[in-house]
Amino acid sequence: MENQLTAEEITKREMEFDAKIAKGIVVEPKDWMPDRYRKQLLRMMSQHAHSEVVGMLPEGNWLTRAPSLMRKAVLLAKIQDEAGHGLYIYSAAETLGTDRAEMIDQLLSGHAKYSSIFNYPTLNWADMGAIGWLVDGAAIVNQTVLAKCSYGPYSRAMVRICKEENFHNKQGYQIMAYLMKGTKEQQEMAQDAMNRFWWPSLMMFGPHDTNSPNSGDLMKWKVKLQTNDDLRQRFIDRTVPQAEAIGLKIPDPDLKWNPQTRHYDFGEINWEEFNNVIKGNGPCNRLRMKQRRDAHENGAWVRSAALAYAEKHGK
Ligand code: 3HC
Repeated sequence: MENQLTAEEITKREMEFDAKIAKGIVVEPKDWMPDRYRKQLLRMMSQHAHSEVVGMLPEGNWLTRAPSLMRKAVLLAKIQDEAGHGLYIYSAAETLGTDRAEMIDQLLSGHAKYSSIFNYPTLNWADMGAIGWLVDGAAIVNQTVLAKCSYGPYSRAMVRICKEENFHNKQGYQIMAYLMKGTKEQQEMAQDAMNRFWWPSLMMFGPHDTNSPNSGDLMKWKVKLQTNDDLRQRFIDRTVPQAEAIGLKIPDPDLKWNPQTRHYDFGEINWEEFNNVIKGNGPCNRLRMKQRRDAHENGAWVRSAALAYAEKHGK
């Protein structure tokens, strides 16, 4: 760690580290790294893992109300995948020297964030389609780039996760396409879900680059290889044609293809809503945190049994 080195030694190590990153050499857990690099990665990875676990809650709400056994089985498989993604990323984050129990305590005590998108309610079955298609679609855009980031355990975790996200995204889009071929009520339900999830999905990519205090470090150290705004734009450009293909309208009067830039121009995000949600004042923040705290408490016996077994059998 840096606290055992002199200032000159730290400067020399940091220059060597920056040169390594510039050459595209992947950083592994046992390599020397600046404390700030470690801290930034731990923040980002633990919050990513929290997002995966909290993200199960909105969808879990519809498991018992899925319209068919097949839809129930697909949704169950997706939710189980998300749990696995959370454990995967907690394991990758633990390589930075912090135990997952500590990370989870930070979440449950309100000191760590999770993605704003999971603080919105799921009001009808079409929301399962909107989440799979839009939320996992946004996650794919973000995570396929993260799969090339400079920290080995994180980038490798993303490779497997992206494969599963693609299944999540396709099943969500299929739900929306099916509803849009259905009755007028089903089409209205799909459009209602689109209207409620479009803008919160854009917020998943974070604030504008000019308001992104962490992007400087993360771009310098190639943890982020594209900025918040670039990834958001890529998501919009990819998703608008998909919406049009099944007859869904994007709830943005300013959305327009720009032949000069070859991107969609779009309206301004409601940053007041975004800041409110990440401060804990979203529609479902309190519910989600209560559900996570209750689950953690109800699961205490499993953790102590597993620890007792590990101690007895020296695992
Ligand atoms: N929700 C909650 N907090 C957010 C946020 C969002 N959508 N966007 C930004 N923030 C927070 C940041 O955490 C940061 O706060 P902090 O310093 O206290 O952590 C602050 O707002 C400023 O934002 P920055 O742009 O400076 O933060 P980052 O550079 O970390 O960028 C990020 C934010 C784009 C979310 C980035 O952290 C990232 O790419 N993380 C990895 C991917 C991830 O976590 N995705 C979450 C969704 S997971 C998912 O969808 C699962 C899928 O299976 C459904």
